[in-house]
Amino acid sequence: MIPGLGEGDGPHRLGVADAEREAQLLSKVVKTISAGLDLDRILQGVAQLVTETTETDVCFVHLLDEQGRKLQLRGATPPFDTMVGTIELALGEGVAGWVADHGQPAVIVDNKASDPRYRYIPALRGEEFTSMLSVPVVTPMGHLVGVLNVHTRLRREFTPADVELLRTVAGLVAGAIENARLHRRLAEREEALERFAERMVEWQEHERRRMAGEIHDGISQRIVSLFFHLSAAADALPGSPGVAAEQVARAQELAGAALDETRSAIAGLRPPVLDDLGLAASLESLGHGFPTLDVQVDAPALAMAEHAETAVYRTAQEALQNAAKHADAQSVRVRLYRQKDRAVLEVTDDGTGFDMADAPAAGAPGGPTGFGLSGMRERAELLGGRLELTSSPGRGTTVRLSIPYLPSAQC
Ligand SMILES: Nc1ncnc2c1ncn2[C@@H]1O[C@H](COP(=O)(O)OP(=O)(O)OP(=O)(O)O)[C@@H](O)[C@H]1O
Ligand SMILES: [Mg+2]
Repeated sequence: MIPGLGEGDGPHRLGVADAEREAQLLSKVVKTISAGLDLDRILQGVAQLVTETTETDVCFVHLLDEQGRKLQLRGATPPFDTMVGTIELALGEGVAGWVADHGQPAVIVDNKASDPRYRYIPALRGEEFTSMLSVPVVTPMGHLVGVLNVHTRLRREFTPADVELLRTVAGLVAGAIENARLHRRLAEREEALERFAERMVEWQEHERRRMAGEIHDGISQRIVSLFFHLSAAADALPGSPGVAAEQVARAQELAGAALDETRSAIAGLRPPVLDDLGLAASLESLGHGFPTLDVQVDAPALAMAEHAETAVYRTAQEALQNAAKHADAQSVRVRLYRQKDRAVLEVTDDGTGFDMADAPAAGAPGGPTGFGLSGMRERAELLGGRLELTSSPGRGTTVRLSIPYLPSAQC
């Protein structure tokens, strides 16, 4: 038996012996918790109903935070409703903390101050109340989500039926809390997905502009010049074959350059080496493309989804380019590995490093014109990953990309 629990024959009973009243309370609780998903309103409504129907003077609903470390007062009857959100208890602290810790109800009939579990919180004016009943709020799956307390001004012996009723109410509230939390998590995911879709569209636009720029400023300019050189050659051919030959040679050079630019524009969409060699060998071959750097690559074959491989390759490419352009580095280490459900790429150079406070994000006022760092970061976020940059003057730079590991479709 719970200490302090009466036999149910005292002058004050929670009204729980009254089956009809009990049924009414439960049905009102169900109505309140089905009215919507705003958790604070539900808890407020439940606190009110519990005191009204059980003839207690005040009801407090303490919720366990999502880390399961502390209880927060989230529902209370007036005048304590203004205290909601301002009171916190550690697990084990106060009667509510004890109930949360032990997963058992607690009854204190009188003389609270002498109970070792009791902690006086001035704002909750414990001195005005004599008896209390506290029950854990436990979900049908057995997870503790909070504690429900009722207090009375007059001395009251709580009966086992009182405890049972309050536990039943707590069980209903627990379901509502779980639903509200699930609903919030779903809403957050939906928002993240919307942001993802928006960024995807922006990224596509950005890529289209880049391609248009490359075709307009590079390839088509060369084809125009090529056309003029060929026309000049055609004009010169009858009378001045020497001039015509010169023009043809120039046209050949331009055709070669246009071809190179076409290749690099295509490579800008998806690096062809990835298809030919796979990611690990592509990173090796990328390293050979920086003759001033000693690049060591340590990359096992991870068989990742194509878009994830492209992101890793691009990040390594930009990090190596930065190491070659800005860092005055001698050697760079490229490491690719799997860490649980994530793929991690680390590119570390031994160069000058830089003070990140002095390198505001691209596009920010006074920031660099470069888009390398912000592009890497956006790409990482787009895949639900993160990009971390560690650098300080004189100590080199490490770029760390961590993205969810997605196996390739062939796996
Ligand atoms: N590995 C590095 N070592 C030293 N400084 C770096 C390194 N990486 C980046 N930086 C500094 O951060 C700045 C921003 O880099 P970011 O890649 O965004 O632009 P960028 O390389 O200047 O231009 P872009 O990448 O668009 O060609 C660089 O201008 C450089 O000052
Ligand atoms: Mg750069």
